[in-house]
Amino acid sequence: MDDKALDKVIVDSPGRINIIGEHTDYNMGYVLPTAIDKRIRFTLQRNNTDTQCEIRSKGYAKALVVDLKHISPSNTQWENYILGVLYEIYKRSKALKGFQCTIESDLPIGSGVSSSAALECGLAFGLNELFDLGLSKHEIVTLSRDAEHNYVGTQCGIMDQFASVMSKKDHVILLDCKSMRHTYVPFVIAPYKLVLLNSNVSHSLASSEYNTRRKECEEGVAILQKQYPYVASLRDANLKMIETCKTAMSPKVLDRCIYVVEENNRVLDAVEALKMGDLKTLGALMYQTHDGLRTLYEVSCRELDFLVDFSKNIMEVLGARVMGGGFGGCTINLVHEDTADAFIKSASEAYEKEFNIKLTSFEGHPSVGTTLL
Ligand code: GLA
Repeated sequence: MDDKALDKVIVDSPGRINIIGEHTDYNMGYVLPTAIDKRIRFTLQRNNTDTQCEIRSKGYAKALVVDLKHISPSNTQWENYILGVLYEIYKRSKALKGFQCTIESDLPIGSGVSSSAALECGLAFGLNELFDLGLSKHEIVTLSRDAEHNYVGTQCGIMDQFASVMSKKDHVILLDCKSMRHTYVPFVIAPYKLVLLNSNVSHSLASSEYNTRRKECEEGVAILQKQYPYVASLRDANLKMIETCKTAMSPKVLDRCIYVVEENNRVLDAVEALKMGDLKTLGALMYQTHDGLRTLYEVSCRELDFLVDFSKNIMEVLGARVMGGGFGGCTINLVHEDTADAFIKSASEAYEKEFNIKLTSFEGHPSVGTTLL
C-alpha cells in the first residue's frame, strides 16, 4: 500500500432535487439542481486481493461478487449501477484493486431524487479515495454518467451526477450543460420551503420513454440544422427558428422542441426571480414547467397531475411540478412554512382517496455533495 492510499473510507453520497430545468441537460441547456440531506452511505475497505470485490446492501441478503477482470452487465438492474462504475474505473486505472463495500441508504428509490446517481457517484468517489486513483470530481461525474449509459441503458444527461458530487449547502447550482460552467446561487426562500410529495408510483415507461424523448429532440435538431447549420443542440435554437421549420416536424417533435426552448428560458428567469427574492414568479415558472412536461413533453402521469392540480387550490403553495425524468416519483412544491403540514395532510388524504396509494413526503434542503466522512 502506498503512502497516500487508505485502508478504509466512509462516504456519504446524496440524492438531488431540481428546482427547474427538466429534460434540458441532454439538450445542452440549463438546470438548477442541488443535493439534499438524504444520502447513501458507503463503507469501503481494501481486502488485499487484486480483483475480487464484494458489495453488500443492507436489507439484501445476497452480496454482489465481482471480479474486476470479468465485469459484465447483470439481469438485476441495481447491480448494473455498481458494475458500470467498476467497469468505467477499471478501464481508466488498474490501481483499482479488490475491496469490500457495505451500502446503507435513506434515499427513496425510483422517486425522482436520483438514488441512481448517488449510488454511482458515491462508489466512484469512495474508490477514488481508497485507492488514490487521482480522478478529478469532474471525472467522477462523467464516468458515473457513462456507467448509466453503458450498463444501465438510460441515456441520461449530466445533471444528477453533477448535483450529487458538486453541490454546496444552502445553494442551488445553475449549470450550463453546454459549457459545463456552473455558478452557485444562494437558495433563500424563507418563510417558504420545498416540500417533496412522493406519489410512490414509478411507471415502467420511465426508462424507454426517456430514451425516446432524447431521440425526438435529436430529430428536431436534425430538421433545424437543414436551415440553421450551426444548431448543434436545442440549446442553440429559439422559438422563431422552430416556427420556420415546423412543417417539416411531426407534431410530437415540434412539441418536444418548443418545450425544451421554453424550459431553458424558464431556468434563467427562475434564477433572476430567486436572486430578487421574487418567489411568486419562481412558483409561477414551476407551474409552467409542469404544464409543459404534461402537455408538450408528455412525461407526467395521472398521479402527478392530480397532486399538482390539488396544490393549485392552496394559496400558500406558490408552485409545484413533477421533478426528474417523470412517469412517477415526486412533485416539488414551494409552500409557505406555516401551511406545509396542513398541505401535506390534505394532499395525502385526497391522494389516497383518489388512488388508494399512500403519499409520503419530505423537505428538500440544499445540502453538500458527496463527502468523505
Ligand atoms: C433524469 C436524468 C437526468 C435528467 C432528468 C430530467 O433524472 O437522469 O439527466 O435528464 O431525468 O430532467
